Order: sequence, then structure tokens, then C-alpha cells
Amino acid sequence: MDGTIFGSFQLPLAKSSPEGPMESYRNATEVQMSQMVQPCHTNHRRELSIGQLLKWIDTAACLSAERHAGCPCVTASVDDIYFEHTISVGQVVNIKAKVNRAFNSSMEVGVQVSYEDLCNGEQWNVCKAYATFVAQGKPSAKIKLKPLVPQTEEEKIEYSVAAERRRMRLAHTETIKDLVTNSPVQSGTEIPRLLSEFENRECGMMVPAEKTRVESVELILPPHANHQGNTFGGQIMAWMENVATIAASRLCHAHPTLKTIEMFHFRGPSQVGDRLLFKAIVNNAFKNSMEVGVCVEAYRHEMEVSRRHINSAFMTFVVLNDEGQPRTLPRLKPEPGDGERRFKEASARKKIRLDRKYVFSCKHTEVPLSVPWDQSNKVYLSYNNVTALKTLVAKANWVLTSERDKVKMYTLEEDKFLSIRIEMTICIDAMQAFLLLSDLRHRHEWDNHYASSELVQQVDKEDMIYHVVSHTMSEENKPQDFVILVSQRKPCSKGDPYVVAFRSVTLPTHPAKPEYTRGETLCSGFCIWQETDELTKVSYYHQATSGVLAYITTNIAGLSSSFHSTFQACEQFLQKNKDNLSVGLQNL
Ligand code: COA
Ligand code: ADP
Repeated sequence: MDGTIFGSFQLPLAKSSPEGPMESYRNATEVQMSQMVQPCHTNHRRELSIGQLLKWIDTAACLSAERHAGCPCVTASVDDIYFEHTISVGQVVNIKAKVNRAFNSSMEVGVQVSYEDLCNGEQWNVCKAYATFVAQGKPSAKIKLKPLVPQTEEEKIEYSVAAERRRMRLAHTETIKDLVTNSPVQSGTEIPRLLSEFENRECGMMVPAEKTRVESVELILPPHANHQGNTFGGQIMAWMENVATIAASRLCHAHPTLKTIEMFHFRGPSQVGDRLLFKAIVNNAFKNSMEVGVCVEAYRHEMEVSRRHINSAFMTFVVLNDEGQPRTLPRLKPEPGDGERRFKEASARKKIRLDRKYVFSCKHTEVPLSVPWDQSNKVYLSYNNVTALKTLVAKANWVLTSERDKVKMYTLEEDKFLSIRIEMTICIDAMQAFLLLSDLRHRHEWDNHYASSELVQQVDKEDMIYHVVSHTMSEENKPQDFVILVSQRKPCSKGDPYVVAFRSVTLPTHPAKPEYTRGETLCSGFCIWQETDELTKVSYYHQATSGVLAYITTNIAGLSSSFHSTFQACEQFLQKNKDNLSVGLQNL
């Protein structure tokens, strides 16, 4: 499996030097935990149980959050986790947790898990997790956390992108509901088709879903809770993984391996003395993987009828053969009613997971320039668009290459990319500049590369797709055209910029035409900072791909002059329209 859906990181890790790593700077919220995997931590495959790992992740993350908050914190959610490796007895698990950003009462904690083979010193990444903790003050008093000030380039990137991840997780339930409802696998004729797809499997057996159903109760005792009596989120996740594994084993009659967990959201607290009821069932079995759903409810007394919904999560399991390859799974016969609904929803979630993987799994430098636009990946493409720009903005090594009048030009060379940043400070309100620059239909008024642009699709309040025709001629001596996703973001907190990110997408309604050369942009856009009551800093970023790199490096002086005049025209456009509220208003 690739890294998490929210990022990827390199494999393998460098071997640690015998002297240990250089530690000149250490984040004040960083917490490290190292655990030797003992037989008591393992499952039947003698591998570290994911439930135990989730407990360690939650503990390390909670201690980091409490270090920043200075008071007790509870787990609000843990984003999707993809497990890349299993860990065996005798190996050492190293966990590093640090607070990426504090919002109001909540914080995002980033957790990196690796394992170490003590015999050869090698380290491997296992997973990366993002957990949100909420600081708990006195009853009914909402805490306002102190802001976190990122220091290093990596911390600045995580800080900036954390706002984007928060946006996604707060909308998660709605997003999934929306995607599942609009998924093509929702139509009534789909179940027979999905079932018939399995006919060709070598494994002809069909298991009634009912046979995989698990129900299990736990009484919350003091060791399961913190000193205030609130249950540890990690403990609940471990119990959920336990029942999910039993359900998965009942389908395949073997020991399954957990590959992914979808967002845990703790909807409400539970305390020592509460009973927790766990219910799990296999929702769907695909060729090589199955989705198990788990639902957790709490109640206080055995006689109590009403139960509190604490959590629901979906986990994907595979069954590996002796060569470590996924085995073909038996078919699942869903129960009528809820079972059939969950069967279809699991197929839709699988499609969403695959689309998401396509958008997120490649390293930035390997992402295809234009990703096909589709309802099921719209949230992730928009995230990817804004994140790519925010990552570029947070880079530390920008070099000032020219300065004329008020316009500064910076460049950044990295791998096979050359990025350009043009910056000026002008007398306009940041919000108005944001609205004016987001509306590509007006771009031709100041950018002479733009011939025309048409709004093709208003995806939602913050995302739209334009078809742009450029005056710039291609090598084939034809004008270029682009299909561009524009994603706008207002500041999440004071000090954040307004962001307008651009990236290419492909749309079936706008295929490449013979009269144009289809152009592509991987990452570009504006960041707009309100500096004082009157002054706003506007920065334009553009990441040039290898195709135009040679041209740019040999024409830097010409480019600088061209950007200079374009930006001056941009300033005039902004000044002229600063009171014109009709421009860009549809994007509000
Ligand atoms: N993911 C991440 N953060 C979330 C969230 C989610 N799904 N839902 C809410 N939050 C954040 C909000 O953004 C807000 O952050 P902010 O103050 O920085 O803006 C914070 O939680 C509080 O939100 P609010 O709307 O005031 O409260 P709420 O009624 O949504 O309650 C919890 C949020 C987390 C406090 C509440 O659901 C809870 O107590 N859950 C159980 C926590 C727990 O006990 N966990 C341990 C295992 S049971
Ligand atoms: P949904 O039914 O929409 O999936 P729930 O929160 O009710 O959402 O349940 C989450 C998952 O928990 C379900 O998809 C299912 O896999 C499992 N589940 C729910 N109720 C039961 C039950 N009574 N028995 C076994 N598993 C259940």
C-alpha cells in the first residue's frame, strides 16, 4: 500500500547512524515512544496487532496534544490510515507525534510510525496518522488554545495543510454520504450485476453476511480511561479492530490482515462504568479485499434502553497466502434491507478509496498533469490542488532574482521543477483582490496571455472549472487551451492568506480539439495576505514542468520583464475594480 491518503513518504528510511541523529532543533510538542513488540502484543499471525498499535498511536498523540494544551485532551477523530507493513515479534516500533496546528479548542497531531529491525538496523515506515484532539477545560467552558508557530519548512507545510485537512474531516460525513448517494453503483440493478461479477471467481462459495455478524460488550474499567474517567480513544479503536477481525475471519476462515481504516470519529464521550456494545459485519467481499463495518454504542445501566452512538468505522482486510499475495475471497450474500444497502455503499466506498489513492498516492513529481475530473474524486482533487500550492508557498529556498518598481520575482529550483513567484504589495482589501483574481472570466483584462475563459462548471462554493484559451502559440503553431480547476480558500485563522489554486483536469465534455494544443498546468495560483488595514501582498506562484523548463531558464530576463508588465496590468485591474462588487461575487 502507498502512504496515507494525506501524504506519502519515502521508503526505506535511511539507516540511523551509530551516533544517532543530529538533533539541533526539536519541536517542543514532539513526543517519542519506542516499544519492543512482545508476544502479548501480537495476533495469530504473530504480527503486532493493529489494535495495540492504535493504542500506542493514540497515547503518543494525546501526550503531544496535552503538552501543547497544558490540560487534558480527548480524541475527536483519527483520519484514514493505510498500513504499509506488518511488524513481527522482537522488532521495535518507533512512534513520533507532534502538534501540527492548534485551532480553537482542537489540535491536529501528526504521528509517524516506523519499525526497526534491531539485527540489521534498518527502519521502515509503517503508517502516518493524523489525529484531532480537543482540549477539555472546566465543564461548559470552551478552551481557546494558544496558537502554534511553525519553525521549519516541514512544520510550515504541515501547519498550512492542516487547515485543509480540517476542512475535509469536518465535512467527511456529508462528503461520504453525498458520494455514496451519487455513486453509479447505487442503481437498483447493480446488486445482481455485482453478484454476477463474482461468478468467475475460482472460489465459488457464497457466505451469507449473517454468518459474519459479531456482537461484543465491554465494561469500561479504570485502566481503559484517563484520570478524569474518559475512555481512551485508542482503547475503543482496539476493541473495534478486534470485532472487525473476528467478522473478517468468519468470512474467509483464515487470519486476515488489516490494510486500511477509514476515519474514526468519536461522536461523544464514554466514561468508566459505561458498557460499550460493538457490532460488526462484513458489508461486502470483493475479489481480494473485504470491507467490515463496526458500530459502537454506549449505555450506562443494563436496564437502559436508549444507547449513545459513539463511533462507526469501516476497515478493509485482505487474506495473504504463504507468498504474501492476497487470496481470492469467498462471495458474500448480503441480507435484504440494510445488508443490501451496506453492500452497495461498500462498493461505492471502494471506488472512492481507489480514486483517492490515484489522486494522493503518487509523489507530487509523479502526479499526472491532468487528472480526470469526476464526482467521486472532486473533494480529493480540490484538496490536492490547494495542498500543492500551499506546499510551494511554504518552501524555504526562494531566491530573489529581480526587482523592478514594486514587483519582485523569486525562483525556486527543486528536482526537475523550477518555480516562479511574483510579488507586489498594493493598496486594496485582500478579500476584494481574492474575489477579483479568482474569477478567470476577467483575467484577459490584465493578462495578455489569456484570450478567453468560460466557466464550465461551478462545482461548489469554493471550486469551479474553466475552459481557457490562450494567446500563447504552441510549438505546433496553434493556440493553447486549458481545462483548469480553480479552488478558492478563505483564511482559516488570522495571519493565513487567501488562496486561489489552479491545476489542470480533464473533462469528458471538453476533449482536446484539433484547432488547439491542449496545455496543462500542474500547480499555480495566488496567495493574498492582508498586511495592514490598507495594504495587501499579492503573490503569484507557478510551477513550471520539465517541458517549459529549458525555455524558462534561458529566458529568465525576458520572463521577468513579461511578468513585471503583466503584474503592473494586474495592479491597475485590481485598483480599477476595487469597488466593483459584481466581479467575483458569484464565487462568494
Ligand atoms: N474531527 C475533528 N475535529 C472535530 C470533529 C471531527 N469529526 N468534530 C468536531 N471537531 C472539533 C471542532 O472543529 C471544534 O474544534 P475548534 O474548537 O478548534 O474549532 C471542536 O471539535 C469542538 O467542537 P464543538 O462543535 O464545540 O463540539 P462538538 O459538540 O462537535 O464536540 C467533541 C466535539 C470531540 C468534543 C465531542 O464529539 C466529544 O466529546 N467526543 C468524544 C471525545 C472522546 O471522549 N474521545 C475519547 C474516546 S470516546
Ligand atoms: P451504516 O448502517 O449506514 O453503515 P451504522 O453506523 O449504523 O452505519 O453502522 C456502521 C457499520 O457497523 C455497518 O456498516 C455495519 O457493518 C456495522 N453494523 C451496524 N449495525 C450492526 C448490527 N446490528 N450487527 C452487525 N453489524 C452492524
